[in-house]
Amino acid sequence: MTYTPQNLNWTLVTGASGGIGLAYVKELAKKQHSLILVARNESKLNEISEDINKEFGVQTKVISADLSTPKGIEKVIEETNGLNVSTLINNAGKEESGHFLNLSTKDMLSSIALNCSAPMLLTHHFSEKMVNNGGGHILFVASIVGFQGVPLIANYAGTKSYVIAFAEGVASELKSKGVNVSIAAPGFTDTNLASEMNFDETPIKPLKASFVAKYTLDRLGKKRIIIPGFINKFLFFSGKYLQPRKINTLAFGQVFSKVLKKKLSQEKTVEA
Ligand SMILES: NC(=O)c1ccc[n+]([C@@H]2O[C@H](COP(=O)([O-])OP(=O)(O)OC[C@H]3O[C@@H](n4cnc5c(N)ncnc54)[C@H](OP(=O)(O)O)[C@@H]3O)[C@@H](O)[C@H]2O)c1
Repeated sequence: MTYTPQNLNWTLVTGASGGIGLAYVKELAKKQHSLILVARNESKLNEISEDINKEFGVQTKVISADLSTPKGIEKVIEETNGLNVSTLINNAGKEESGHFLNLSTKDMLSSIALNCSAPMLLTHHFSEKMVNNGGGHILFVASIVGFQGVPLIANYAGTKSYVIAFAEGVASELKSKGVNVSIAAPGFTDTNLASEMNFDETPIKPLKASFVAKYTLDRLGKKRIIIPGFINKFLFFSGKYLQPRKINTLAFGQVFSKVLKKKLSQEKTVEA
């Protein structure tokens, strides 16, 4: 049989140009997935595409799109027309940290668009196709901070709470239709997103993006909520079973006030 883009099973990864998304791409390429790489930085995506093509011999397609905009979502939908996307990795995300009153509402709205609207819209589009094609897998990259409110990253944690609740809901609806939904909830990971944080005053050691990607993919389709890392698992279970939610919020607030200490010291004073 001759392979054409139309008769391959594709895996689409958002936020494929760096961090955890790039780690997913490499791990999936090792497993011989044909990959659709989505992010804004086209030249970086082309470079990654060439590299994995050479190293693993897999098919790739690059789509440069800003997923925080309706135009970007439309572009992904148009450019995947006719392709069988059987796995969707909703990974792209961004955050803004600091005192809520000092953060720009424009930035926070664009985080809501990227972290919440984009995975909802892509899931709506691709899960319908998966159902018609007999099934598929969807992975949402949420965060350990999404299980409670968290001071100093309140909007970001809120977007991840949305992702978790939304994913749990659709998981239940899509299961009987052959579409498997999993949620990855990593903690601090050594990527660009966590680059403004400093862990010297904490016992925390950020996870490697490659570990997060492999750990999650090994459990994709087998577990609903996947939490890489022992400390993150402990935080999840203690928040769920051992201590009231508001104590967890306070504890996370303490951690963020330490890891963001330098940034917070440079912020303008927030009047009480
Ligand atoms: N790092 C952590 O500590 C941590 C912890 C828990 C959860 N997470 C979650 O893990 C996921 C990946 O984060 P990361 O740590 O790998 O972050 P990262 O290193 O900053 O990578 C973010 C990725 O998203 C893409 N992206 C950003 N804005 C975009 C937009 N408007 N449209 C399309 N793509 C966009 C970026 O590519 P371009 O700039 O080329 O667009 C990049 O590929 C996120 O959902 C994040 O919330 C991260």
